[in-house]
Amino acid sequence: QLSPTLYDATCPSALNTIRMGIRNAVSRERRMAASLMRLHFHDCFVQGCDVSILLDDSSSIDSEKNALPNFKSARGFDVIDSVKSQLERVCPGVVSCADIVAVAARDASFAVIGGPSWTVKLGRRDSTAASRSLAENLPSFTDGLDKLISTFATKGLNARDLVALSGAHTIGQAQCAFFRDRIYNIKAILMLDSRALEGFKNLIQKKGLLASDQVLFSGGSTDSIVDEYSKNPSKFKSDFGHD
Ligand code: HEM
Repeated sequence: QLSPTLYDATCPSALNTIRMGIRNAVSRERRMAASLMRLHFHDCFVQGCDVSILLDDSSSIDSEKNALPNFKSARGFDVIDSVKSQLERVCPGVVSCADIVAVAARDASFAVIGGPSWTVKLGRRDSTAASRSLAENLPSFTDGLDKLISTFATKGLNARDLVALSGAHTIGQAQCAFFRDRIYNIKAILMLDSRALEGFKNLIQKKGLLASDQVLFSGGSTDSIVDEYSKNPSKFKSDFGHD
């Protein structure tokens, strides 16, 4: 049974410790806010939000870190490790890493960059097994709209969720390989860092950085959702954060 107040009695300083840890990490490197949000997404899409993504290679683990969508790309592991060791000092064995990653993503979004917020239900258990092969199936920037919609549907997420969550691409960075073709083809040089709703406006002007973002506004079924979010920031924020 997950509950937002799970640690109130057993580790009252847990949420505060996580928030301060994330705040410090982001003040050292602003991009870390984006990286922590993406880490949560890449964790949850594979076996659920169980931090299987944190497990390193071993005789029994084929690490998800080596799957193509994560390799030299997923970041933030040190930040999570350091918050975990702080919490182990104050309340040993109480707060799961799965909860830390989930709260870190929320805090990175809201407390640090003023983005959407949501209530995190606590009590997730840490996995002792990883699935590199499932991680290989994380959505790709080359996926078309139908593929993106169907991949999200396998996680109980609809097209509206796809568009709202893709709004996360208004922050952070992408390596050149992921958008090279788009720059050469359409000369759309813009960083993901253009912030919040500018991201949806960029899609409407066909300046999406990743092809998988631009397909959300390309004459298909999700155009109207992009249009709606570009005009209504608070709707985007509430949809991004809803259960
Ligand atoms: C819809 C399917 C998605 C695709 C195809 C996709 C693909 C990508 C790619 C290719 C990058 C660049 C990675 C790199 O350069 O190493 C990226 C970055 C990022 N993605 Fe996604 N993504 C998707 C959905 C999401 C979702 C749902 C979220 C979170 C809610 C998210 C959050 C981010 C963030 C924050 C970054 C920047 C990370 C950083 O700067 O460290 N993405 N994504």
